[in-house]
Amino acid sequence: MRHSTLRQLEVFEAIARLKSFTRAAEELFLTQPTVSMQIKKLTQEIGLPLFEQVGKKIYLTDAGTELYKTCLGIFDHFSRFEMIASDMKGMKSGKLRIAVVTTAKYFTPRLLGMFCQKYPNIDVALKVTNREHILERLTGNQDDLYILGQIPDAVDAVAEIFLDNPLVVLASADHPLANEKKITIERICDEPFIMREPGSGTRIATEHFFSGHNKKLKVRMELGSNEAIKQTVAGRLGIAVLSRHTLRLDAQIGQLAILDVVGFPIERHWYFAYSSGKQLSIVAQTFLNYLREAADLLEDLSCRHGTSGHCPLLKNVAGISSDT
Ligand code: PGA
Repeated sequence: MRHSTLRQLEVFEAIARLKSFTRAAEELFLTQPTVSMQIKKLTQEIGLPLFEQVGKKIYLTDAGTELYKTCLGIFDHFSRFEMIASDMKGMKSGKLRIAVVTTAKYFTPRLLGMFCQKYPNIDVALKVTNREHILERLTGNQDDLYILGQIPDAVDAVAEIFLDNPLVVLASADHPLANEKKITIERICDEPFIMREPGSGTRIATEHFFSGHNKKLKVRMELGSNEAIKQTVAGRLGIAVLSRHTLRLDAQIGQLAILDVVGFPIERHWYFAYSSGKQLSIVAQTFLNYLREAADLLEDLSCRHGTSGHCPLLKNVAGISSDT
């Protein structure tokens, strides 16, 4: 292994992660023969095959799996060292990997925008997916930080509340209930209901609320996206429970009404979290401190002050990927 270069490990890591020589070559701006050559040399050094091909798919061998874990450790140590070195030079730089639940995408990019303006040398990768996947990623310690609703006790994580997350009942603006006061839960249960997909935190909280009152909703449709649900509600196909954050900066706001229902809003909170035992990088620690200190900003983002908002450009957000 003495002669294996960091470059070879970098090439190996990209192939193992992307499960493709072609995509790894593209990501690293190398030709495919160069990538194959690097892997051939690495395999010779190790003396064991690292990949096996079945049909068109490639899989890691046992030795490949062990090397992949080792690579992640090595790269993690290097990026920590880079952060420490730039901190010593008086700058904050490095990469911040954040994963957030679907509904948090309504405020996280703005939070990150302001953070990135303050720390222009920090690159951010943001993953947006539903609660179930976020919990899997958190358990697997795949990212630096997570933003999500309440975390189950069974998940071993450090978590802290940083923002309110009120869940409200939405109907079309011209719905007969839109002008009524103190609408009963029974009345809501008579309406066709549009529900988020299984695994969604919004859905879990909604089901918990209605089952806590021994009531059952008349679910007409299940949809995996807040935007699709708002369209459906505006189209008068039913009512829904969503986070009030989903209404912020919304061009459709005039087509939707928040109903005055007894027991609502459901008072939830947003938490930031990371795996217990994780040593936070300097950059992740900087972001946490920024979240804790940005009290005014968070007050504004909690959407109590109408729907207008200033959205800074996300110049150094390296990648935003979203499942929905
Ligand atoms: P969701 O999560 O976007 O998966 O519904 C939101 C929440 O947990 O409140």
